[in-house]
Parts: sequence; structure tokens; C-alpha cells
Amino acid sequence: MSRPWSVASVLLASLASVSAAACVDEEDGAVAAAEGTPTWYADVEPIVAKSCAGCHQPGSYASFLPLTSYEEVSGVKELVAAAMSDGSMPPWTAASDCTTYEGDISVDEDAVQTVVDWAEAGAPEGDPATSPGGLESGVPMGGLSRIDHTLEMTAAYLPEAEPDDYRCFLFDWPAGSTYLTGYEVDIGNKDVVHHVVVYVSPPGLAESYRSLDEADEGEGYSCFGGPGIVDNDQADWLGGWAPGGISGDFPEGTGIHVEEDSVVIVQMHYNVENAGPQPDQSSIRVMVDDAVDHPGQIQPWANPAWLSSTLMELPAQTEDISHGFSFAPGGDYLLWTSNLHMHELGKNARLAIDRADGSEDCMLQIDDWDFSWQRSYRFEEPKLIEDGDAISLECTWDNPTDEDIYWGDGTGDEMCLGTFLITLP
Ligand code: HEC
Repeated sequence: MSRPWSVASVLLASLASVSAAACVDEEDGAVAAAEGTPTWYADVEPIVAKSCAGCHQPGSYASFLPLTSYEEVSGVKELVAAAMSDGSMPPWTAASDCTTYEGDISVDEDAVQTVVDWAEAGAPEGDPATSPGGLESGVPMGGLSRIDHTLEMTAAYLPEAEPDDYRCFLFDWPAGSTYLTGYEVDIGNKDVVHHVVVYVSPPGLAESYRSLDEADEGEGYSCFGGPGIVDNDQADWLGGWAPGGISGDFPEGTGIHVEEDSVVIVQMHYNVENAGPQPDQSSIRVMVDDAVDHPGQIQPWANPAWLSSTLMELPAQTEDISHGFSFAPGGDYLLWTSNLHMHELGKNARLAIDRADGSEDCMLQIDDWDFSWQRSYRFEEPKLIEDGDAISLECTWDNPTDEDIYWGDGTGDEMCLGTFLITLP
């Protein structure tokens, strides 16, 4: 969804002429539905309720464009039809033949056609008695069921390093909290935040992190490629945010154990290339619990050699470059979610379980990589992996540039990274 507005405005122009031709009742301006034409109540409302309203409502991700009633949706019918026909909405990049996910908001071709036909017919309202309902319950997408603590930057930070500014901010893990059971990243300024990674360091290293912070002037401290201390083993992932990310409660019964006196490190990757230097003040809301049924962790998944060598090479001016990696964690575990991350040259990617018996269980397949929409997909049923089963990752890119590209944190570098929530059975 790089620039949907331009595509939308082209379609808008063509749709405007079509809807002008629709039969408008002179008396009250209402549009009469011809036989067989989809209507709001019978056909369009259920699609909007399932696939759009969770984000397009006050307090959610797309509150700027509420889509929660006939008036609201018919008022922007051309935009809605355009966003659905060009595939930019709803944002759901997971291939449908991979596995089944909780909260699947994807739409099929029929649903898109229904909305397009409805918009072209001038958005007939139809008969309220034909409504299957659904919109009025309008639960916002994601979000925490309870906010126990808010970790907030004490002051705004102005990213200035061009084009990428990596800045880490420290927070004390809230005293008396044992398991993190959900979090929500509240991005202060989406125009400059490229991504966020949340780490937690063991209590023994808290002082070392604090001295890094003190040694660097201003809010936080400069950090590249990790939380700032020698290597990534010195902190665990708690979670993160990338464009399109949806956060909230972890799956029921799961949680990540955090030791008392730990320090939470939030690495903000700012990119000021498009927007110029602008201040950001982000915060993280967390939910904690004393006990959980399935303690686990967020596991980043990539070939460690990609990070420390030139193995993951994307030669200049080359198409369809693939790199893959597979590893058997050894032991029995439950997998709950899956997520894939590449940068802007990504084409497609896949995360799967390669069973010891030779069968394959797809976790996430993205056929048409879209940097704007990176979210974690939650399995309808957690997947059990057993001793000997491997988890494989494969990414494909086109590199049209004149430079060979390798693994790296910069926006112009590339990555092939899976992450998933893995717990004890
Ligand atoms: C996961 C949350 C989410 C869902 C679900 C969602 N949207 Fe959006 N939508 C957004 C966000 C965020 C933007 C702003 C995108 C941007 O700024 O690039 C947006 C933008 C739009 C726009 C503005 C034009 C555009 O394409 O950027 C339209 C129209 C739109 N959405 C329609 C829909 C429709 C119709 C559905 C359901 C079929 C839907 N959206 C589902 C989050 C969502």
C-alpha cells in the first residue's frame, strides 16, 4: 500500500461518473435499489462489520475515517470501493491457504465485487429488517483488556541523525509484576517512527544499561542493531511494533516471565527521510499477571550467520533472490502467533514447521510483501511442535539497485526475520 491515495483518486474519478448515472429519487435524494443490486443492510454492512469497523472507529487505528454506520460508509463509498478493489484494505497480507487465524478480517473477491457494485449503484440503503447485525457490537481491534502500567518517555525526543536514528529508552519493570500478559505500543509520531523493539534485560545488567543512558546526553541513548550492550544475548525480546502492527492481550493463558528489578529497553528506530526531524513521545501500556498456564517468550527467528556475515547477499540488479533457514529447537513447545519482517525490497516470505515425519505445517505465507502492513497473526489453535520438528523461514527479494545489499538494521539494508510466541505445552 505504498501510495493508495493516487490509485484511489483515479478510481474515484471513474466511479463518480458511474454513480452520477445511478437513478436518484428527485424527492429525497435517496437511491432506489434495482433488483439484484446489493444494499447496505443486506450485503455491505456485514462486510464492513467483519473487516473494517474494528479499526475504522473512534479510539482505534483508523479513527480519522470512521466506518460504523450507513451514513459514514455511504459518504465515502467511492474511497471504500477503491481501497478494497486495489487490495489495500482491509490490511491482511497472510495467504488464505496457509493456516487459519483468529480474527481473520480478509475479504474474498465476491465481497469486493459486492461493495464495488453497491458503490456504483449509488449506495442503496435497503431494508433494515434484512440486516444480519454486527456493526453495533463494534469491538475495536487489538487493545488491552486492562492497563496495569504505562511506560512513558519522560520527554519528547527529536530524532536528527539522517536517515536513521536509533535511540534506546529505559524503563524500570514495574515492581511486583511477574508475567507480562499483553502490551500496546502507543506511537507518538507515526511519520518518523520506523519500528520499535522492546527488550528486557536481566536484573544483573540493569546498572550497565543505566550507565549507557547516563553517558549519553539528552533523552535515552544512541543504540544500533540492538539494545546497546555488546550483543543481543544480553536482553530478551518482549515485543515490538512495525507499521500496521496490532497489539493487545497475549493469547489467553500465555505470558512472558520478567524478573523483579529488570529493566525494559525500548529501541526506537526513527527514519526522518520523508518527514524531516519531528519530535516523538511514545509510550507502552502493559498488562501483568502473577501466574500463567503457558509461560513463554517472543522468539526472533533468522539464521544467526546472516547477522554476522555477508551470507544473506542480495546482489545488485537481480530478481527473485531467495534465502532460507531451518532449525529444530529440540523439545516440545506450543506456537501461538507468527510474524514476518523484511524491509522495502521484500517480495514474499514464508514461515513453516517442517515436521520430523516429512510433512509441512504452514505458519505464515505472505505472497505480496507490503512494508506498510506488518502484523502478528494469531493461530486459531496453537501449533504443537515436537522433538525433531524444525521451523523454516524463507524470503524472496528483488534488488533493482546498483548496490549489493546485506542484512542490516538500516532502512536501505534488508532483513528476513520471523518472530513467534513460543511457550511450554
Ligand atoms: C487493521 C486496521 C484496519 C482495518 C481492519 C481496515 N483499515 Fe482502512 N485504514 C487503516 C489505516 C491505519 C489507514 C490509514 C492508512 C495510511 O495512512 O496509509 C486506513 C485507510 C483507509 C482508507 C483511506 C484510503 C487508503 O486506502 O489509505 C480507506 C478508504 C479505508 N481504510 C477503508 C477500509 C475498508 C473499506 C476496510 C474494510 C474492508 C478497512 N479500511 C479495514 C486501518 C484499517
